[in-house]
Amino acid sequence: MRERFRVVGGARLVGEVPVVGAKNSALKLMAVALLARGRTTLTNMPAIVDVRIMAELLRRLGVIVDYDPEAGLVAIDVPETIGHRADYELVRALRASISVLGPLVARTGHADVAVPGGDAIGSRGLDLHASGLEALGAHVHVAHGYLVATAPRGLRGAEIRLDFPSVGATENILMAAVLARGRTVIENVAREPEIMDIAAMLESMGARIDGAGTGRIVVDGVDELRPTEHRVVPDRIAAGTWAFAAATTCGDIEVVGGVAEHLGVPLRALADSGCHVEATPRGFRVAVPSGVDRPAAFDVATLPYPGFPTDLQPFALTYNAVARGSAMVTENLFEARFRTVQELARLGADMQVDGHHVMTHGVRALSGAPVESSDIRSGAALVIAGLVADGYTLVSGVHHIDRGYPRFEVALRSLGADITREPDEDWYE
Ligand code: UD1
Repeated sequence: MRERFRVVGGARLVGEVPVVGAKNSALKLMAVALLARGRTTLTNMPAIVDVRIMAELLRRLGVIVDYDPEAGLVAIDVPETIGHRADYELVRALRASISVLGPLVARTGHADVAVPGGDAIGSRGLDLHASGLEALGAHVHVAHGYLVATAPRGLRGAEIRLDFPSVGATENILMAAVLARGRTVIENVAREPEIMDIAAMLESMGARIDGAGTGRIVVDGVDELRPTEHRVVPDRIAAGTWAFAAATTCGDIEVVGGVAEHLGVPLRALADSGCHVEATPRGFRVAVPSGVDRPAAFDVATLPYPGFPTDLQPFALTYNAVARGSAMVTENLFEARFRTVQELARLGADMQVDGHHVMTHGVRALSGAPVESSDIRSGAALVIAGLVADGYTLVSGVHHIDRGYPRFEVALRSLGADITREPDEDWYE
């Protein structure tokens, strides 16, 4: 049975909320573990279904995986010989499975990874992943719906320049280059904290990497890596979600475990709009001061890190929907990532989409209605919209939200929200 959230409007979120390891790092770190024979342990892992899917994918490669969601622990035992195939049914359920491509070809000389299908947030190519691995000496082609990469005699270092700083391509090339012969220089790479996390884990396994977190990474290949223990970097998108939740509901939230430096642009924008933003010994705090009636709307243009994260764009839309004044939200990373707008419009938001721009005109209050989540972030953003809507809002498609936010409604209730999970009785298959 599908589920939905019943969200009662008029909330002001106050209190503290924990943030654990980043989904977008955790899944890749599980792929990194494939690079070394032996037992690798990951801590601070989020309790989300995506980790289960990735664990299943590794098991089908012959790896033993123990996942304890309560303890936030994943232990990965990698045998000497592993498989090389990631099936379509798993890749379809979890696009991040593509991150086993680099490790598999580096470790076994062969990878068959299903090509992910379309995705609710616009088309996403794999050309940079493929050309990067080809530069390292792999032969890459597509056959029967699978991306097949082979390098029977191993990979060799190369100079690679990405046309665009793709997060996924940077990760795959980095994870392959650590076992390539000689030096690899990758230019125009993604600089996200998750890339630095992967590099840090690889270095603790014996890899030689320089420049992670800058636009140019230099890797000196080694023959072998050893297993390690690694703590996943805190989830900056979950932390940013709470920052926007505080600002949108005129609340006061301390994000425990949040790293303010990973959210430079969004937190600065909130501060400039009238919110109080401060670092605390345990994380950071976002509060709307009591004298401020409505914080001001602000312009957003999503960009690769350290720019405004595209994954926080739906929250900026919800914030602007009820903030004071008009603003422009521009999406530069993905096409068609404005599904949130049509749902916000159902709640009475005043917004117009024009290509990859949305013009927003803040209204005093939204008006509760049934809405539908289309992905993790839009779903969470619609829940926050429900908190500032008159009456109640039914947010369906809760399974999307569960993929990024462990027990979202429990965290919200601890901050004073009135939200319940219930069967989606109006859903017709
Ligand atoms: C990752 C995140 C996602 C986030 C995104 C951008 C994970 C699991 N997902 O996705 O939440 O929104 O970063 O911060 O970590 N592109 C190509 N060719 C390629 C690769 C990418 O054209 O070979 C394009 C895509 O179509 C897209 C853009 O580059 O328009 C960004 O993609 P990328 O940075 O690779 O994002 P992901 O790694 O897929």
